[in-house]
Amino acid sequence: MKRTIYITRKLPEEIVDKLSSQFHVKMWSEENVPVPRDVLLKEIEDVDGLICLLTEKIDEEVLNKAKQLKIISNIAVGYNNIDIDSATEKGIVVTNTPGVLTETTADLTFALLMASARRVVEGSDFLRSGEWGAWSLMQMTGQDIYGATLGIIGLGRIGEALVKRAKGFEMNVLYYNRTRKQEKEDMLGIHYREMKDLLQQSDFICLLLPYSAEVHHLIGKEELSLMKRNAILVNTARGGLVDEDALYQSLKTGEIWAAGLDVFEQEPVSNDHPLLSLPNVVTLPHIGSASVKTRMRMAHLAADNMVNVLNDNEAITPVNEP
Ligand code: NAP
Ligand code: GLV
Repeated sequence: MKRTIYITRKLPEEIVDKLSSQFHVKMWSEENVPVPRDVLLKEIEDVDGLICLLTEKIDEEVLNKAKQLKIISNIAVGYNNIDIDSATEKGIVVTNTPGVLTETTADLTFALLMASARRVVEGSDFLRSGEWGAWSLMQMTGQDIYGATLGIIGLGRIGEALVKRAKGFEMNVLYYNRTRKQEKEDMLGIHYREMKDLLQQSDFICLLLPYSAEVHHLIGKEELSLMKRNAILVNTARGGLVDEDALYQSLKTGEIWAAGLDVFEQEPVSNDHPLLSLPNVVTLPHIGSASVKTRMRMAHLAADNMVNVLNDNEAITPVNEP
C-alpha cells in the first residue's frame, strides 16, 4: 500500500510528480499562503511523511497529533522551526537541505553588504523622488568594501563561501565560531577572533550561524556598542539573533553606520516596523537562497530525503538520529 505524505505548500509540478509516483500525496493548495495551523494539526494525524517550509512551526503540539509520522523533510537548511528533541524522542527523522543553497546565499549576503555600504537602495529612491539637484562632492557617500575588514560570525558552509567572495575584494577576513577551525585559517587566509575583538575590529559583520535559544539576541545593545561607527551589520541567518529594538536605536543615533537584513524576528515583518523607516537599512523578504535553480535543488533534495526514508533507506541529509 502506498504511504501518505502531506506537503504544507503548493510545490512545482515536477516535484509533486516525483513524489506522486511513490506516495499518496496530499498538499496545501496555496503557493504564497502558509497552511493554517488547524489544518496542519488535522492533516498530520494520519500521514507517514511531512514536507514543510520554515514558515511552519513543528512543535510538540503538532508532533503529539502525529500517529504514524516517520519523517519531517524541511525545505531549508535552518531547522529552528522544528522541535528536534521531541521529534527524535518520537523516532521521527528530520532532514534539511544543506549545501545546495550555499553559494546562492553567500551571493545574496555579499549583495546586501555592498548595497548597504554603497547606499544602493537609498540612492535609487533619492533619484526617483526627483530630489537630485546636482552632482555634489559628498552626496550619497558610503563605505569602501575593497580592502575593508569583514567579521564573520558562524564559519560554516555559507560563511566559508562568503570568504571566497570577500577575498576577491582583498578584504581582511576575521571570524568567530563556537569551535575554532584552524585548518581553515591557513587554507582561506582568515584570522580567528573572540566575539568582542571581532565586533571591535570589523567594518562589516555578517551573521551566518544557526538560530537556537542559546543565541537569542546574540547581537544586542552591548554588542552594538562595541562596533565601529562605520560598521555595517548584515544578517542573512535568522532574525532572532539580533535584538531589533537595540539595532534600531543604534542605527538611528549613528552608533553604527548601516544594516542589511534578509531576516526578521517576526516574518513577514510588519510594514510599520521601526527598522523599515530608516534610510540606512536595506531590507529583503528572506530571499537568501532564492534563485530558480537553487530553490528547485532544495525541493528535489527534500523530496529525495522523503523517498529514501519512506523506502527504509538512509536519509541523505539528516539532522537527527532517532
Ligand atoms: P552550517 O554549515 O551548519 O554553519 C553554521 C556555522 O555556525 C558552523 O560553523 C557552526 O559551528 C557555527 N555555529 C553554530 N552555533 C554557533 C554559536 N553558538 N556560536 C558561533 N558559531 C556557531 O550552516 P550553513 O549552511 O552555513 O547555514 C547557516 C545558517 O544560515 C542556517 O542555519 C540558516 O539559519 C541560515 N540561512 C539563511 C538563508 C536565507 O535565506 N537567508 C539561507 C540559507 C541559510 P560548528 O562547526 O561548531 O557546528
Ligand atoms: C533559509 O533560511 C534556510 O535556512 O534555508
